[in-house]
Amino acid sequence: MTGRVSKAVFPVAGLGTRMLPMTRAVPKEMLPVVDRPLVQYAVEEAVAAGVSDLIFVTDRSGPALEAHFGPAPELAGKVETGAGGERLDAARALVPPEVRLVFVPQGQPLGLGHAVWCAREAVGEEPFAVVLPDDLMVPGCLPDLVEAFDSEGAAGVVAVEEVPLRDTARYGVVDVGGAPGRLSRIASIVEKPAPEEAPSNLAVVGRYVFDASIMDLLGATPPGAGGEIQLTDAIGALAASGPVFAARFRGERHDCGNRAGWLRATVALALAGARPADPFARDLETLLADWRGSAGAGP
Ligand code: G1P
Repeated sequence: MTGRVSKAVFPVAGLGTRMLPMTRAVPKEMLPVVDRPLVQYAVEEAVAAGVSDLIFVTDRSGPALEAHFGPAPELAGKVETGAGGERLDAARALVPPEVRLVFVPQGQPLGLGHAVWCAREAVGEEPFAVVLPDDLMVPGCLPDLVEAFDSEGAAGVVAVEEVPLRDTARYGVVDVGGAPGRLSRIASIVEKPAPEEAPSNLAVVGRYVFDASIMDLLGATPPGAGGEIQLTDAIGALAASGPVFAARFRGERHDCGNRAGWLRATVALALAGARPADPFARDLETLLADWRGSAGAGP
């Protein structure tokens, strides 16, 4: 894939307080889903979209990320069994040789917009993607966003999906001025509106592509919802200066930023492709039947 977007920013400086105590020593993005940490799904999606510079905005997880993605000489000679039963060199690097890992500190937790702005020097004048690893997308949608960004000559493209109206206060919500198509130009966007104030039920999910000009807009963005510098507010300013599109995501998104969503993702991905005789699928059926029995027999 030869797009213009070769850089992606991963804002991963959060403390993961919703996932405590798991996240005391293990950064949230390093929590596993089935056989790999959350961040690996995000990185694989970015690499599939043509990204070669992975820019992590983080204060504490740099060493874990480097250890995970780089070569592991201590595993030399060991073999890993892949998802399809294939034999893999356990010491291999998990990203292609041309892919670079770059680390940028955030310093202060001033919001998602501030985290992205912290990557401004690493991004330079090029368009770039933003990937929130908490949102595990199946299938990954960044390749489609990058393609739309290139083909539309857009200033930005953000992934959206319909959510129940009662949930709008958890998301950035877009107004596309009517019924949404596959790609719809954003008229306005608001961060975490109450359902009665939401312009629609089209919620932004954690995949974005922007022109570098959003960095200056972020630098001028005052604190917004929750007292934080919001990426959403800079997207609104970007949409006033050039076309920004909402791209509808039609796959399955797992919100792994909370315990229930993370557990659900683990089960869903473990079941994906499993045959009925798979031991995990059978055990899960037994566990559910036992749980139903004991729940039914309860007080
Ligand atoms: C962030 C963004 C929000 C977006 C969401 C997607 O919110 O601010 O606009 O809809 O990610 O996951 P957060 O989940 O960090 O509160």
